[in-house]
Amino acid sequence: MYRTHLCGELRASHAGQTVTLAGWVNRRRDHGGVAFFDLRDRAGIVQVTINPDLPTEMLDLVADVRNEWVLQIEGVAQKRPEGMENPKMETGEVEVIARNVIVLNPSRTPPFMVNTDNDLPDENMRLKYRYIDLRRERLTRNMVLRHKIVKYMRDYLDEKGFIEIETPIMFKATPEGARDYLVPSRIYPGQFYALPQSPQQLKQLLMVAGMDRYFQIARCFRDEDLRGDRQPEFTQLDLEMSFVQRDDVLDLVEGLFTAMLPEVAPHKKLFSSPWPKFSYKEVLERFGTDKPDLRFGMELIDVTDILAKSEFKVFQSALEAGGVIKCIVAPKSAEMSRKELDALTEVAKSFGAKGMPYLAVTAEGVKGSAAKFFKEEELAALKEKTGTGVGDLIVFASDARAIANKTLGGLRLWFRDKLDLADKNMMAFAWVVDFPFFAFNEETQTWESEHHPFTMPKMEDLPKFDTDPGAVLSDAYDMVCNGYETASGSIRIHRRDIQMKMFQLLGLSDEDIQKKFGHMLEAFEYGAPPHGGMAPGIDRLVMLLADEPNIREVIAFPKNQNGRDVMADAPSEVEPKQLKELHIKFS
Ligand code: AMO
Repeated sequence: MYRTHLCGELRASHAGQTVTLAGWVNRRRDHGGVAFFDLRDRAGIVQVTINPDLPTEMLDLVADVRNEWVLQIEGVAQKRPEGMENPKMETGEVEVIARNVIVLNPSRTPPFMVNTDNDLPDENMRLKYRYIDLRRERLTRNMVLRHKIVKYMRDYLDEKGFIEIETPIMFKATPEGARDYLVPSRIYPGQFYALPQSPQQLKQLLMVAGMDRYFQIARCFRDEDLRGDRQPEFTQLDLEMSFVQRDDVLDLVEGLFTAMLPEVAPHKKLFSSPWPKFSYKEVLERFGTDKPDLRFGMELIDVTDILAKSEFKVFQSALEAGGVIKCIVAPKSAEMSRKELDALTEVAKSFGAKGMPYLAVTAEGVKGSAAKFFKEEELAALKEKTGTGVGDLIVFASDARAIANKTLGGLRLWFRDKLDLADKNMMAFAWVVDFPFFAFNEETQTWESEHHPFTMPKMEDLPKFDTDPGAVLSDAYDMVCNGYETASGSIRIHRRDIQMKMFQLLGLSDEDIQKKFGHMLEAFEYGAPPHGGMAPGIDRLVMLLADEPNIREVIAFPKNQNGRDVMADAPSEVEPKQLKELHIKFS
């Protein structure tokens, strides 16, 4: 037997017991002939004391032991002498007095320290040696949390009558708006499987198959530009339900996360229960984004009416072009330096604004680039509508509505970070509903589906399909939290005629429709039940619950920011023989 106890589970109550432990040397210290090893396993760390009365051979062996060596230690657990306890360690009341030490495996000096979060090398180095990185307490904790979250999801959904079903990884393109990863077929020259961007079609087919309530911890694959909250392969809690309306799905998911929070992350507070629900239009107007961070105020305020007759040219020309004037009020920011304001103006420009007019409200009156253009009554009305006081900074955006919203939405988050306005322990879950059905792609000048082409339009908007596609709303919804989109879903089209119409509106030829989605259309002819579902992104949710800045920290073996696996060095070249078998030739 390698061990009788885990390092991290020893407590004062084990005092007097003979224990055998196995683990890694987290840290070694030597004090006047006595050596102390902090021995670590997944459960935690315990102090092992090596007294000089052990046999000489053993002491010689111990003398060589360094950090990250793997040891087996037999000894006696005992309460630490009074005053020697370490309240920072969960095992801090005990130590193990070693009787026998066996080196199970030595270790080279690791490329970075495992026992501290300080002095970490750049991320690529951490990812190259991920198996060492994962030994660090923080990452181990993240893996355990992820496991608990997924287990909770499984148990909860099982309880609610869902069954977990696996769906194929080698499938056919399922559009979610990204490029596909393709797998060439050896048996069928020139033909490819596509890795699913999500199990969307498959879960709908499971509903046609009468599975009623399905879920899966599903791996999804998307070849898209990477960001802190995006990986080329990621995991969803994919679920689908038959005979439901929108709120049945929302209630189920809200119930799951509300119940889960105190179980997996008791230090996190729920912002509001029930969760707030906003229309897409409303969140854009109030927060300048469809994934609002509700943990702080600073909402966007429309001041077009107050400044309709402004003498400020910038405002005038925006209004003449049919635009709006909106603002946000940043508390305690009136004294921002010129340099900071210039930097902020660049941030505004990155969202499409031409500039960033502002007013600093000080005890001596208003100051700022545009201050001299404001009339007394405009200032008074502005202060009243925005609730601005001395010390505040009013930042304006005057532009087409979409650009003004986007700019202020971006600046609002900039102030959140600068002024530390958001409570890190708050989980501000909310629903965004009534999304537009179509999104216009300016680049290709075509309509695309805002969610995905299987989403049900609002029935009452059907007549607008041909006349005003931009005004058609859908039965799609997002779950958002702290400024992230944490899930998406919709009620689906289950009728062949509507699905066909949808594909046609997206500009697909009848031949293309048949080739790409013939199997779906055919399935809808065999008694497809009304159905809907959703897919929370597990990586993003674990990231938020673990207080991590990006999803790579909660994925065991993520790709780096350039989409590479730097540990195994993938993607990498393959043998010419393999290419030949796959009928692939590079020119
Ligand atoms: P959607 O494409 O919005 O919807 O994805 C759902 C959720 O998955 C997460 N997510 C990602 N996480 C990490 N890296 C990525 N590259 C990535 N892309 C998406 C997000 C997102 O909200 N089939 C539909 C769901 C449905 O309609 O039921 C779908 O996949 O948290």
